[in-house]
Amino acid sequence: MKDRNKGMVIDSRHSRRQFLKLAGYGTLGLMAGGLWTGFDGFAAGQNIEAGFIPDIDISLSARPGEVAVLPGDPTRVWRYHATVHKGDRARIAEIPGSYLGPIIKVHQGEKIRIRFRNDIPEESIVHWHGLYVPAIMDGHPRYVIPQGQSYLYEFEVKNRAGTYWYHPHPHGRTGPQVYRGLAGLLLVSDEEEQHLGLPDGEYDVPLVIQDRTFDSGNQLVYLSGHRMERMTGFLGDMIMVNGLPDFTLPVSTGAYRLRLLNGSNSRIYKLAWEDGRPLTIIGTDGGLLERPVFRRYAFLSPGERLEIWADFSDNPVGHNTSLLSLPFDAGGMGRGRMGQNLNLPNGVAFSVLKVNVTQSVKTNYHLPDKLSEIGPIRPGDAVNYFRPRQFYLTMRHMQWTINGRVFQMEEVADDEIVRLGTTEIWEFNNTGGGMMNMMNMPHPIHLHGKQFRVIERGGVAHEGYVDEGWKDTVLLMPGERIRILVNFDDYPGMFLYHCHNLEHEDMGMMRNYFVRE
Ligand code: C2O
Ligand code: CU
Ligand code: CU
Repeated sequence: MKDRNKGMVIDSRHSRRQFLKLAGYGTLGLMAGGLWTGFDGFAAGQNIEAGFIPDIDISLSARPGEVAVLPGDPTRVWRYHATVHKGDRARIAEIPGSYLGPIIKVHQGEKIRIRFRNDIPEESIVHWHGLYVPAIMDGHPRYVIPQGQSYLYEFEVKNRAGTYWYHPHPHGRTGPQVYRGLAGLLLVSDEEEQHLGLPDGEYDVPLVIQDRTFDSGNQLVYLSGHRMERMTGFLGDMIMVNGLPDFTLPVSTGAYRLRLLNGSNSRIYKLAWEDGRPLTIIGTDGGLLERPVFRRYAFLSPGERLEIWADFSDNPVGHNTSLLSLPFDAGGMGRGRMGQNLNLPNGVAFSVLKVNVTQSVKTNYHLPDKLSEIGPIRPGDAVNYFRPRQFYLTMRHMQWTINGRVFQMEEVADDEIVRLGTTEIWEFNNTGGGMMNMMNMPHPIHLHGKQFRVIERGGVAHEGYVDEGWKDTVLLMPGERIRILVNFDDYPGMFLYHCHNLEHEDMGMMRNYFVRE
């Protein structure tokens, strides 16, 4: 994709900060992919990349529907639906009874076409969380389409095997749209993974964790409207797994690959097994780790994924356990709110999902010592090794900000421009600055279009981070500072970075960064 940022001008009204207005860049959406009028033709002026022959071609729509989530009245939701035009129909897997979108399965190297149609009564756009895709395929809010319109996505799958996901990204409305049900998993496989012989089929279990609140008529309740609740983020009083309440996973006496996604708006989980076994972690956001790591517990913040190896072969049929979320102190403004889970008093854990060993079956899955080749971390490669880019997460005027700024659709500050083909160190700082510490909260920071490596964590307030492997979302508790190593080799153009607490994101704790050729 060529960089067409020719229309970029420096807006002198903001000369103190030298904001670059990327005017004209927005029309790029019409050049390759982008706004599209229907299934039979393209909008005037649009031509898709010539010669793009998809291996998989699917239609994905977002539309209102009803799902029987709880006994009694069905719940009105918004859901993604998909149909396959080309490729194996098994690439799309619906989760029965769920409001979640279908699981989309792709293989590294495949070319994917997705014809997205927006049938919800407000603007929307789809973002492929964790995938390396060109800027116009990434679901930036500048590309939102109104109800009744379509957007064409075409890209090649370049990611490593792993657990990725898709969700809406309209500015200011991501939280409510995800909450109503718009989210789904996107699983990538590759050769390396296939040679490992990891648990597959029914032994490969995707688990999307979310929290929801229902009213007495079984309808979803979002924010109460209380200002403080928006500042903290939405916390539901019921845990849903794959869109289902009271989730129990029946297992046999074998080994499982559990793919966990925290698809909650704001809730952070501190996961641990009830029966005391360690968490055997084999993967994170960007796929498999080099080797399994063992933790007594692990944080999973909104947007993050964890892949867990769970072996029940030593357990008798009838053994029950739970994946718990342990209480924790989220500090500052999160104190007593985020750490206080559900409506339980502090100090009480709750169950995220139950596991029942129901049958004796011998499987032949063995935990590999070596999972994957993930490459060395070389901070010395960074062009800004001696002066990492700094991002301060602070509150200003009752707004969460990044370096004191909130999101502006087309705005990129001069310290948000990077060069294509370079590697950089970015430092995120959640120390709040002295007396501001009371005004701190956990922030899961996410970069679009990138997988990065965590090279340093300072001011560490907690144990239980899984900073190993490739990441696209990383949790900073109050008082913490983190350095990541990011490579900007892939695509030029404008991408987002933001807090994945969706209420923070919607309030503007999001910015653009621009990769310049
Ligand atoms: Cu999960 Cu900006 O995205
Ligand atoms: Cu993303
Ligand atoms: Cu935040």
